[in-house]
Amino acid sequence: MEQKQKLWWKDAVIYQIYPKSFQDTNGDGIGDIKGIIKRLDYLQELGIKGIWLSPVYQSPQDDNGYDIADYQNIDPMFGTMEDMLCLIEEGKKRDIRIIMDLVLNHSSDEHRWFIEAKKSKDNPYHDYYVWRDGEEGVPPNDMTSCFSGSAWEWVPELKQYYFHQFSKKQPDLNWENEKVRKELYQMIKWWMDKGLGGFRLDVIDCIAKEPDKKITGNGPRLHEFIKEMAKETFGGSDFLTVGETWGATPELAMQYSNPDGSEFSMVFQFEHIMLDQDGPEKWDVKPLDLVELKQVLSKWQDALYQKGWNSLFWNNHDLPRAVSRFGDDKVYRVESAKMLATVLHGMQGTPYIYQGEEIGMTNVQYELGEYRDIELLNMYQERKEKGYKEADIMNSIYKKGRDNARTPMQWSDEKEAGFTDGTPWMKVNPNYKEIHVERQRKEEDSIFTYYKTLVHLRKEMPIFVEGKYELLLPNHPDIFAYRRILGNEELLIVANFHGNEIQCPDIQVEKEAKKLLSNYKEEKVGVLQPYEARMYHIIK
Ligand code: GLC
Ligand code: CA
Repeated sequence: MEQKQKLWWKDAVIYQIYPKSFQDTNGDGIGDIKGIIKRLDYLQELGIKGIWLSPVYQSPQDDNGYDIADYQNIDPMFGTMEDMLCLIEEGKKRDIRIIMDLVLNHSSDEHRWFIEAKKSKDNPYHDYYVWRDGEEGVPPNDMTSCFSGSAWEWVPELKQYYFHQFSKKQPDLNWENEKVRKELYQMIKWWMDKGLGGFRLDVIDCIAKEPDKKITGNGPRLHEFIKEMAKETFGGSDFLTVGETWGATPELAMQYSNPDGSEFSMVFQFEHIMLDQDGPEKWDVKPLDLVELKQVLSKWQDALYQKGWNSLFWNNHDLPRAVSRFGDDKVYRVESAKMLATVLHGMQGTPYIYQGEEIGMTNVQYELGEYRDIELLNMYQERKEKGYKEADIMNSIYKKGRDNARTPMQWSDEKEAGFTDGTPWMKVNPNYKEIHVERQRKEEDSIFTYYKTLVHLRKEMPIFVEGKYELLLPNHPDIFAYRRILGNEELLIVANFHGNEIQCPDIQVEKEAKKLLSNYKEEKVGVLQPYEARMYHIIK
């Protein structure tokens, strides 16, 4: 199955849309598919070739659509199937493919299968989910859900527990059951026929769970299931498939993204994302060590070179805003946002931009009642009960809460940032008067314009796609520098990752080096200014 044709996603940049917060068109305060269509010209201008669309399927929205009640229908809140097909068509006209989010580990408890499954032990759908006998109050084991509390939910009528790795409204599907797998493959093919460009596969490394052995991620049958799915659905096509794999190592990623096409195009790995975590829970943070970050990202660059493919990202709908987390969202917001973009987009792999990242949107600090995310609200409750201090809990939320990424997109300085004519489902970030698309689209040195340049460079220069990566100054505590090498060509990326001015060690920038891009108008001799980043092109 070796992929001979040139794969479109190798020089592409993908843009992630969180539909609920992107653009509302009917005044109900919730983003919708028509809103995405309305903004396609904007995305075309940015130059992206694909949209990863977070779920728009029918859903009770317990986890904002990651709890699917009907895989083959669009939630009325987002629009209709006709709107969806229109989005696919309109996308095609602009060379933008739609990548849908496939949530295959679990469904909603309001899915027809689960409603049936709950009726009796001999219902044909019962075995679509993961059940264990038990006694009320004594769950099968002490496994916990990612959203706090036990992973087991008691159903008195059946005298059984069902297993849920996420909320209790997200019962886990039983992949051991061949019928489940076949149904899911049918559904995938049905979507493929609609003209999509790919799939992002939600928590895909958790599907082969074995709760009796307390296994969630990387279960023994995981790759068997994935290979079967690929073979029966997207294998051998030019679909972009990206798996969400929190437990991936470079070795596993080589398997997932094997160029033979037997599994996925690539996976999202999270090793670099977890470096500022202190202990087992994401809510406890420690300062990020740049040397460690460089080491981790470089390890992935090296390991997958010609053996697999990387995805590149700083943030998504589950993570804090990149500029707030890795840069400085106050004094050097513009500089640091551009610096982060330079470092990421210079690497090998497919870069992902999360909505609002291209204008440097930031984290928020809201009152508890203004938050919406189930994960964050459950954690608040749990930590309160455990006796944590209010201020510490709120601080964790400010730093790591998923709602940081889910505030409405900031389109203009009009009411509600141009997101809605009504009342937004979640409060708009108060800084929208300053940070918004309309302004940055016009400005030559805006973050938006800078991203546009990066996206275009990748399409135009093969070295971005193929060049071999080589880390420079691995132990420097402030500078992130590397080369990409292709034949007699080189890219050189040099960035000050911090807010202080530093001496720039001698990184041989040959005379004939051409500066492709930089985030400062003026250079200072021998120093890198706060968050300064430069990208050079060298022909030997
Ligand atoms: C993934 C999604 C996240 C969701 C979870 C459960 O991690 O990105 O938003 O809550 O899976 O589906
Ligand atoms: Ca709407």
